[in-house]
Parts: sequence; C-alpha cells; structure tokens
Amino acid sequence: MSRIPLPYNPKVMDLFRNPKNLGKIEDATVVAVAGNPACGDMITFYLKINEQTLVIEKAQFESYGCAANIATSSIVTEMIKNLTLEAVWTDITWEKVTQEIGGLPSVKFHCGVLAVGALKRAIRKYFKDRNSEPAWMPKENTFEEKQALEEEELANMLSKRLKPEEEKSP
Ligand code: FES
Repeated sequence: MSRIPLPYNPKVMDLFRNPKNLGKIEDATVVAVAGNPACGDMITFYLKINEQTLVIEKAQFESYGCAANIATSSIVTEMIKNLTLEAVWTDITWEKVTQEIGGLPSVKFHCGVLAVGALKRAIRKYFKDRNSEPAWMPKENTFEEKQALEEEELANMLSKRLKPEEEKSP
C-alpha cells in the first residue's frame, strides 16, 4: 500500500533537500537537544553566542526528524542569526517560523514546534549554566518548550511499552 505524499510547499521541499546550517558547531557556546532518539524525531541546536553583546553569531542544527522538522530548523538558524538572545526569545515563535516557511500541513505543526522548543531550551540553558536569570525570560516554560517535553515523555513511555519483557526487568 503506498502512502499519499504530504502537501509540502516548494520552500519546505527545497530546505529539506538543501538545508542551510546543517551540522555541529565544534566550539558552540551552548548545545540543546529536543525530542527522543527512540522515535527518531530528534533535533540538536548549536549556538555560537557573543558573550559580551549576547548576539547569536552562528546557529547550526542536526535533525533526525521529518522534512518539516528539517526545513523549520533550517529556517530558524537563518532567522536568528545576528539577533540578541532577548530578541530571539521574544520574536521567534512556531507560528512565525511556520509562516516564514510558507505554511505546513496541520499534521506537521508539531515538527516546527519541536524546532522552536529546542531553540528556546538552548537559550534557557545558556543562562542556567551561568546562574543568571534575565528579567525578560519567564520562569515557566513556553508553549514550545512544554510541547517538546510532552513529546519526549510520550516517546519514552512508548519506547518502554515496546521493549520486550526481559529488557524491562532491572
Ligand atoms: S519531527 Fe516528528 S513527524 Fe516531524
């Protein structure tokens, strides 16, 4: 039985085939992962941050997600370059990213949410590692961070259920 291809627009397909800023940054200032390797939907963001100005000088990603995830992650790395962490935190939402990419099929919205969740997690981690709490950063997780957590919990639960019985025992 063949599957019906999803109606991705040409911009998504182009970024999926030729993603920009793909790969590790070896000397990244901060690295954050969202998703779960068990289900394959995993994304890592690498940010190179100017510690004086708090401007993102370079952003790259690795993704094991679908076309929508790769395309949204790629466009995120372009959108955040040369912006301050505060501007990125305030301005970059999954809705904006989805719009920038020309739209996604609704069943693929969560892929863009996961990309922005990984980005926000990286920014939060940057400040946490330095024991600092900027006034503009809410204590509570954003929608995207919450969604990333939910996906991870769900994937963990499913991978435990799918494990053979003998592997479950300690
Ligand atoms: S990242 Fe999971 S389906 Fe797209």
